[in-house]
Amino acid sequence: MELIQRPRRLRGGDTIRRMCRETRLSADSLIYPIFVDETLSGKRPIDSLPGQYQYGLDTVNEAIAECIAAGVRSCILFGIPAYKDAVGSSAWDAEGVIQKAIRTIKAAYPDFYVITDVCMCEYTDHGHCGALCGHTVDNDATLELLCKTALSHAQAGADMVAPSDMMDGRVGAIRRTLDAAGFEDVPIMAYSAKYASAFYGPFRSAAGSAPSFGDRRGYQMDPHNRKEAMKECALDVEEGADIIMVKPALSYLDIIRECSDAFDVPMAAYSVSGEYAMIKAAAQAGLVDEYRIMCESALSIFRAGANMLITYYAKELAQAIQKGDIG
Ligand code: PBG
Repeated sequence: MELIQRPRRLRGGDTIRRMCRETRLSADSLIYPIFVDETLSGKRPIDSLPGQYQYGLDTVNEAIAECIAAGVRSCILFGIPAYKDAVGSSAWDAEGVIQKAIRTIKAAYPDFYVITDVCMCEYTDHGHCGALCGHTVDNDATLELLCKTALSHAQAGADMVAPSDMMDGRVGAIRRTLDAAGFEDVPIMAYSAKYASAFYGPFRSAAGSAPSFGDRRGYQMDPHNRKEAMKECALDVEEGADIIMVKPALSYLDIIRECSDAFDVPMAAYSVSGEYAMIKAAAQAGLVDEYRIMCESALSIFRAGANMLITYYAKELAQAIQKGDIG
């Protein structure tokens, strides 16, 4: 055979394969989601997310210490409040669960980077992501609630805020609120292309945030759509988003690729609860190799163009990167 091109030449051994890797991963790009429950002391395993826990304010720093030990330097916080009402007022309470969690973490680990999820669904008694008008979420009335919440997070010491509600105009409104209060250096990571996805199921039981009626299709995106994701990202960038996000990740790799090609801001991807739970369940049934599936899934998200990844596997991935199994 006279073959000029033999791609296998570059696959002949571990050293050359690693040399030729096109995608490089770093633990610096991993963000670990942490659930903090205001009424809990100690920590409680989450049934829907094997290996994950809800933490009390007395144990949240254990989660941070584990991140640091694994080489993960950043987290995103989700709160489970002691009380809920129609507008979600515990979300912006200066003594609320997230505000206390931020202060607790920052007191012990001032350099650990704390991002907060900004949304109303964990704090409203109806489980929707904003204030209701009849049976729909009132977009413009919700903006004010989101702004108060984001501001209270910044005042408590959050390094970055991440609005995940999908209201129109929220990035601009939050930017103006933060700037007016002197927090012009707090970046916004916008959940820009956030789809109405069944992959959030395990999260909603973990965070107690399932809607009590209806669904989120009136504000989250229709999974059929691609151009709409570009529009959402463009709007968020215009309104001042520092980082844009696609969520979920694995079923939306095409969107990650397209948005990362089109926009000159860093791209985050969120590998959500259902993605993690599927791998766990398949592995527990003995059907797949969990470690290899975890590695391959994560690197595919970076290969698609993500610059950072929010994942329940952050600690394990950081170790896989350190060992050289990926990245
Ligand atoms: C809050 C929020 C959700 C997730 C992140 N922020 C739930 C939802 O939109 O219903 C999902 C994360 C996951 O599934 O891991 N709105």
